[in-house]
Amino acid sequence: MHPPSFFLLGLATAFAPLSTAHTVLTTLFINDASQGDGTCIRMPKDGSTCTYPIAGLNNPDMACGKDGQNPVAFTCPIPAGGKLSFEFRSYGDQPPPKQPAIDASHKGSTAIYLKSVGKNSILDSPAAGQGWFKIFDDGYDKVSGLWATDKLNSNNGHLSITLPTGLPIGYYLVRTEIMTLQNVTNHVVAPQFFVNCAQLFISSSTASDLSIPSANKASIPGHVSASDPGLTFNVYETPYKSDFVIPGPATFFPASPPTTKSNTLTSAKEPTGAVPKTCLLKNANWCGVQTPAYSNSEDACWASAQNCWDQGKACFDSAPPSGYSGCKKWNDEKCQAQHDACASKDFNGPPSMGTNWGGDVSTLRKVDLPPVANANAGAGASAGKPTEEGNNGGGGEETPSAFPSTPPQAVSSAAPAPTQPVGQKEGEEPMAPVSSLAPAPTAGSSCGGHRRRRRIVTVYV
Ligand SMILES: *[C@@H]1O[C@H](CO)[C@@H](O)[C@H](O)[C@H]1NC(C)=O
Repeated sequence: MHPPSFFLLGLATAFAPLSTAHTVLTTLFINDASQGDGTCIRMPKDGSTCTYPIAGLNNPDMACGKDGQNPVAFTCPIPAGGKLSFEFRSYGDQPPPKQPAIDASHKGSTAIYLKSVGKNSILDSPAAGQGWFKIFDDGYDKVSGLWATDKLNSNNGHLSITLPTGLPIGYYLVRTEIMTLQNVTNHVVAPQFFVNCAQLFISSSTASDLSIPSANKASIPGHVSASDPGLTFNVYETPYKSDFVIPGPATFFPASPPTTKSNTLTSAKEPTGAVPKTCLLKNANWCGVQTPAYSNSEDACWASAQNCWDQGKACFDSAPPSGYSGCKKWNDEKCQAQHDACASKDFNGPPSMGTNWGGDVSTLRKVDLPPVANANAGAGASAGKPTEEGNNGGGGEETPSAFPSTPPQAVSSAAPAPTQPVGQKEGEEPMAPVSSLAPAPTAGSSCGGHRRRRRIVTVYV
């Protein structure tokens, strides 16, 4: 396959409304288990712009995307050397395969960066600044004629890698970077960066320290510059005039020496921010906990129902553009049942005391994950992790991630209040009436949905 002809592409991009143009990271899979849509991910909060590129190479949002400086409540544990898969969508709340990960016109590279932020907390170090290194990248494959973004689409928006084995236990940010080159005006290429981050905790490792060679270190923003060859590459010139050079530093894939007496596999306690065991149902970085028990008390019955609606409201309020299906289930199935029981004068409860949905309804999607794309990356890929077995994560066997043990927390309050309104909240907030039915919200944050219609006219002259 050859690069598309200029003529066709020029026409397509000049006249077609590219309404599904852009992309956003929505979901992590750890050793093939979905963590739930939005969970552990610092998604942009504004649903109407969450798939947009970062404005400006020196923007601090280059580090972790819009709103990416703000932590989210949950941090996902993964062992060093574990398989990590990402899901990208062109509409935040529309899982594949209905929509592509990114519009087919968006030719470009993919890259994964890591930053160790500390042993104690995900907050020990900010997203923007030094400490980043690249563990994976992919550009243009001359043999197949495929760009990394083409592969992303043919894998239904999924990209899988193994993490290095040489990552010591601690808190990390993982950063996804998709750089695309379709915006060319008068021969001037305006590269677009789509950047997102997720919060990880390396939960077991044989490595004790991480030393990044200076040539591999990156400070973000600042890791790329407008004159880099990869950022001025013209994808409409056929045949391509040069080899595409993936932007950013060379990859660094720290390997840990094999386990020995002096170098043992160490496991950490669960991190702060692990999804609590007490979580009955999860949506992104919110989880619902059991409502207060009551017996023979009408007041306590309604108070417990109110507690349920309040948790549901916090869920909708905090739902990122990846969706709110867990919030809806919580309100519809738990709060409504409590409400109905109180209304029918059953003052012992709560009635759904035993119900534990075991995670997040979004984890029940059938997902076929690709094998790791960095199967040959350093010793990490051969240090005890399956790399080339073509392991698929789906078959309907996806199970919610095991809930790690951690001291119980007040979960609904652990979810940070949104610092700005979640975008595209068109409907009413779910209310918590005690004497009437709670209305279902009519819309959540349908990121990149019908209201996002920024036309990108790309003209190659
Ligand atoms: C495309 O690039 C031009 C500059 O060449 C810029 O003015 C415009 O905003 C870019 N469009 C998008 C959608 O980024």
